[in-house]
Amino acid sequence: MPIQQVPAYPSEAALRETEARLASFPPLVFAGEARKLKKQLAAVANGEAFLLQGGDCAESFAEHGADNIRDFFRVFLQMAVVLTFAGSQPVVKVGRIAGQFAKPRSSDFETKDGVTLPSYRGDIINGIEFDERSRQPDPARQEMAYRQSAATLNLLRAFAQGGYASLENVHKWMLGFVADSPQGERYEALANRITETMDFMRAVGITSETNYALRETDFYTSHEALLLGYEEALTRIDSTSGDWYATSGHMIWIGDRTRQPDHAHVEYCRGIKNPLGLKCGPSLTADGLIRLIDLLNPENDAGRLTLITRFGYDKVEEHLPKLIRAVEREGRKVVWSCDPMHGNTITAAGYKTRPFERVLKEVQSFFDVHRAEGTHPGGIHVEMTGKNVTECTGGARAITAEELHDRYHTHCDPRLNADQAIELSFLISDLLKKGQSGMAQQKVVNG
Ligand code: PEP
Ligand code: CO
Repeated sequence: MPIQQVPAYPSEAALRETEARLASFPPLVFAGEARKLKKQLAAVANGEAFLLQGGDCAESFAEHGADNIRDFFRVFLQMAVVLTFAGSQPVVKVGRIAGQFAKPRSSDFETKDGVTLPSYRGDIINGIEFDERSRQPDPARQEMAYRQSAATLNLLRAFAQGGYASLENVHKWMLGFVADSPQGERYEALANRITETMDFMRAVGITSETNYALRETDFYTSHEALLLGYEEALTRIDSTSGDWYATSGHMIWIGDRTRQPDHAHVEYCRGIKNPLGLKCGPSLTADGLIRLIDLLNPENDAGRLTLITRFGYDKVEEHLPKLIRAVEREGRKVVWSCDPMHGNTITAAGYKTRPFERVLKEVQSFFDVHRAEGTHPGGIHVEMTGKNVTECTGGARAITAEELHDRYHTHCDPRLNADQAIELSFLISDLLKKGQSGMAQQKVVNG
């Protein structure tokens, strides 16, 4: 089928060899886990839970290590606990991790000082260094990405289920550089309230030893299913259901550049049973969306499809209502999630950046529109890291454009640092609380 964003590999034979080897490797995730995630996402679609999805724009080989994974996971848990506490709802936790390597590019080539080379497409395809050798797509990178994903997933599973994610540790997730910030203080206050509640529960006999929900958490992985040869090699038939599943991650999504209904990426995703994400940018029409929903979720299965809207902070009100109205009119069950990153990328002081206030504004507008339409603002999708980077301007520490060069490490798009990520979750927690008091008022009105 027609396909966008395909790397030009120098040797077709070498690529096929790699894909054949990958097809013989063990799956990274099990179909049963993907089904469990789908069930949790169905609760989000029904307005009973909130989805938190986040991680690097692009994982890299160079940044692969225990500290990075742990610091990401800590911040992610902090965000989740803030949202759970505020919303009094379960938070479905999905990382952009353990497979988020391949990147779509707006241009196939990049020119620097008169030299033109293939664009960087993510470590699973080529190298970021600007020289001919590194920019040549190399299939061996797919095996490295697979092994890195397996190792990352292994540590994440250990953290999620081995005690690190226990609510008893709610104070220990704090990173040193966050502790003395305004977010740190606010988090500390919340953690104290949780600890007090835990002390009370312990007194009445409910402890993390007796109750696994206090001790463990469900954590899922996701990435953009862009490199279809890699995805196909890891697509397997589930022996219990007889259905095809992507086993490269629990949830996969279709990017804004590859969502053509008659092209290969949609066709691939149509054939697997995992929960799917679909990025919805400004060029998506209401009819176009319904056509994609027909293809991707013909059985109208709640939890199957998450619509991840990413318009830009000043375009939400123009685009979101008509998509929501079409979905409501047709009675489609979807999760609505907001990606406040990809519509808000600008260049400042020579760096690709995102002003934090625009990120906040897009989330705010997303909530406002859903409240006005009577639909559930079900989740957020962010690019973030546990590191103290300076990639997005603004936030409580007011990173300026001139400071971006201090710790600008991303391999692709600018990420929220730990402070900014926690600040964002506090903003959302306020919006969730407001929504609940709104609902309570409505109940009173409706008797
Ligand atoms: C991304 O999520 O990194 C991305 C490229 O997003 P989009 O497809 O929405 O542009
Ligand atoms: Co990105």
